[in-house]
Amino acid sequence: MIIDRETAFDVRAFRQALGQFPTGVCVVTCVADGEQLGMTMSSFNSLSLDPPLVLFSIDRRSAGLPLWQKAASYTINVLSENQKDISNRFAKPLSNKWEGMRFEQGRSGAPVLPGAAALFDCEPWARHEAGDHELFIARVKHFRSFADRQPLVFGKGRYASLQPTEFAAPLWPLDIHY
Ligand SMILES: Cc1cc2nc3c(=O)[nH]c(=O)nc-3n(C[C@H](O)[C@H](O)[C@H](O)COP(=O)(O)O)c2cc1C
Repeated sequence: MIIDRETAFDVRAFRQALGQFPTGVCVVTCVADGEQLGMTMSSFNSLSLDPPLVLFSIDRRSAGLPLWQKAASYTINVLSENQKDISNRFAKPLSNKWEGMRFEQGRSGAPVLPGAAALFDCEPWARHEAGDHELFIARVKHFRSFADRQPLVFGKGRYASLQPTEFAAPLWPLDIHY
């Protein structure tokens, strides 16, 4: 393993290294104390198949964190490649994120964004403090996937689109769920 000790704790270099791992982009939504919340997140990931668990993490400086901690359900809206504007809107600390937004009410009560590539309706499973973020583990109650829609990708600090190669990953989707 090569660790460059000069850059190991250089936050900028650390972020740059993390940006070499592309992710999808989600808007995670919930309702708490009658307030509707939505936040752009790339920290969403799969965690367990049985039980079906997923995770995401929220910056502890987020003003909405106390409400996220109270929420009885969350909807994870996995954005499509044509939803960059929605990603940008929910990545800003605005009080009027929902103004003019089209959305439906999901099974759990949290807002669902039309046009998403996949939707996961979840309930809280566990929460852990993790440094400057709080880790949310959620149990998936219902999900929908729209295979004809391409997911939005985020890597190296930029949005991108998927360009599949002809090579399938070994064993997918039998033994691994990534
Ligand atoms: C592509 C992308 C991914 C993001 N992922 C996360 C994340 O996983 N967790 C997080 O706390 N903030 C993440 N952010 C930043 C939040 O979306 C941003 O700070 C937002 O303003 C937080 O909402 P709030 O102001 O309502 O707290 C991300 C931003 C972008 C553009």
